[in-house]
Amino acid sequence: MIIIKTTTQIEGIRKSSKLAAETLNYLTPFVKPGVTTQYLNDLAHKYIVDHKAIPAPLGYGGFPKSICTSVNEVVCHGIPSEEEVLKDGDIVNLDITTILNGYHGDTSATVPVGNISREAKLLVERTKEALNLSIKALKPNKYLNDCVGKVIEPFVQKFGYSVVRELGGHGVGLKFHEDPFVFHFDIHRNDVILKPGMTFTVEPMINSSREAQVYVDKDNSWTVRTLDRSLSAQFEHTILITPDGYEVLTKI
Ligand code: MF3
Ligand code: CO
Ligand code: CO
Repeated sequence: MIIIKTTTQIEGIRKSSKLAAETLNYLTPFVKPGVTTQYLNDLAHKYIVDHKAIPAPLGYGGFPKSICTSVNEVVCHGIPSEEEVLKDGDIVNLDITTILNGYHGDTSATVPVGNISREAKLLVERTKEALNLSIKALKPNKYLNDCVGKVIEPFVQKFGYSVVRELGGHGVGLKFHEDPFVFHFDIHRNDVILKPGMTFTVEPMINSSREAQVYVDKDNSWTVRTLDRSLSAQFEHTILITPDGYEVLTKI
């Protein structure tokens, strides 16, 4: 069931989303060769707690850390670690979800570590562009698939990339993951009709090779990687559908 949020709930989700965006903005300049993903986790944790909020990933379904840090071929749900030292040329997705006064906000960005290859830079830029193109299409009374899957998939396929199919965006706000599931590829059918008061994420995960399969790490049952080790990038925003379009709640 898709929840249409009340004015009070929207105000709460807006505040939490703003904090998630500010946390990401605060954290990004600390991404440098030589830092560990655990260090980034600890900075984000402190920032969120200092702003009277809770990092939603910590303990969620047993997730052990406060943010997700997904490096290079890691698609999503990378677990911050003291052993994982970022090096020049890496890309890392920082995924931040906050709970403020019970309301959730969810955002992520893929950040370069030092100097990255032209190939990596293009993947990151085009993934961000795919998200932004999709967001611009959002409007009440349109089908979700027409705005997201039908926009993102053809855009990235032009470059020889592929859309991750196993994971998607989601309703968000009162809970971390709500209905609807947001597919980032064309599902070739009419699905959810967008209505004012819906809040959900769009968060395409884009792999740099044409048919990249993904798998979940057996040891921790979280970390998702590309089977062929191709690079993967992701950007995420929390969106509110408004009477005449959309509002990006996780924009700074
Ligand atoms: N933030 C991720 C998302 O965008 C979910 C992470 S689940 C966790 O949906 F448990 F790994 F935190
Ligand atoms: Co999300
Ligand atoms: Co997220």
